[in-house]
Amino acid sequence: MSTRLFEQSSLGGMILPNRIVMPPMTRARAAEGGVPTPLMAEYYRQRASAGLIITEGTQVSPEGQGYAWTPGIHSAEQVQGWRAVTAAVHGMGGRIFAQLWHVGRLSHVSLQPGGAAPLAPSALVADGVEVFIDPDRLGAAAAQGRKVQHSPPRALAAGEIKDIVRQFAMAAANAMAAGFDGVELHAANGYLINQFIDSGANLRTDCYGGTLANRLRFLAEVTRAVAAVTGAERVGVRFSPLTTAQGAVDDTPESTYLAAARLMDDIGVAYLHITEADWDDAPLMPAAFKEALRMVFAGAMIYSGHYDRTRAEHAIGQGWADLVGFGRPFIANPDLPRRLRTGAALNMGDPSRYFGGAARGYVDYPPLAAR
Ligand SMILES: Cc1cc2nc3c(=O)[nH]c(=O)nc-3n(C[C@H](O)[C@H](O)[C@H](O)COP(=O)(O)O)c2cc1C
Repeated sequence: MSTRLFEQSSLGGMILPNRIVMPPMTRARAAEGGVPTPLMAEYYRQRASAGLIITEGTQVSPEGQGYAWTPGIHSAEQVQGWRAVTAAVHGMGGRIFAQLWHVGRLSHVSLQPGGAAPLAPSALVADGVEVFIDPDRLGAAAAQGRKVQHSPPRALAAGEIKDIVRQFAMAAANAMAAGFDGVELHAANGYLINQFIDSGANLRTDCYGGTLANRLRFLAEVTRAVAAVTGAERVGVRFSPLTTAQGAVDDTPESTYLAAARLMDDIGVAYLHITEADWDDAPLMPAAFKEALRMVFAGAMIYSGHYDRTRAEHAIGQGWADLVGFGRPFIANPDLPRRLRTGAALNMGDPSRYFGGAARGYVDYPPLAAR
């Protein structure tokens, strides 16, 4: 089998020792006030042999929070907490980006300041599109029953959209102050930026909706504002073109996301991170689409979603991917790069401990015995 996965690579001026990425994974273990804890520093420290770690989704503002116990990056205490995380990863020779997110309509009144309605491009969604929230992920706010409808969102006024652009820029400045090597913008999986992009989620009639250029305007403004703070080479952007996760669907995803990729190329961001799967929602992404993305975007391409070593080597060999994310395997295997290289067996993860809780199912997965 090819061994390109273990070759070094470069990203935004950094040298990565391998092409294995730990993609963003919410673990819902922050302290009160969304402050990262020493346990989180230990979790990321254990996984520092990844070529690149991308943190769990981290809210840019109180309104951007969508689940209980997720961390933020808008307060001084949060920045202080993140400093310990980046120091732990750097102390092991690793590299770490912060994933910046605003969940938009995928929040719930119980998580919003003052119990206000969650914010969204549009108060309505397109016919036939349903948006549900899994009550398990709401922690204390969990309702009875299997699924709860999201709280009806309120459409953002144009001035409020500018405020959120500024929140992303401030969060990026905070991330650099906290010692991160860069930031990833979460424009995937049905969260706020994705809600602006996809035709089924954005029913606005002003300059942020309607035409494709208008639906990409919020993405462009956020990316430019963040790049102005960090440098474009320290910014990555995550898209999920074909998944229908959490109700975000586009009528013509291939042309929409090729246009988005072109825009990101113009801005000069370091990488695009394509998620092909959200849990089990993993539509087949045609090779021609991946080749087209490669043609329009000059930076690095990362793919995540149900990868194992064979598929990862294939993706790199075919030229679509420069780097490959392994999500759930990294939860259960802190030393995943070594296991993939040696062909060692993988630990199985415990999905009941993915979200929330403490050390168990988080920092207690055993590494291979030292030799
Ligand atoms: C527990 C868990 C939490 C996740 N949280 C996030 C998140 O915060 N942001 C994000 O972009 N993707 C998130 N994802 C998606 C992963 O980054 C990845 O795309 C997905 O798990 C598919 O990769 P895999 O099959 O290798 O696990 C999450 C996935 C899991 C399993």
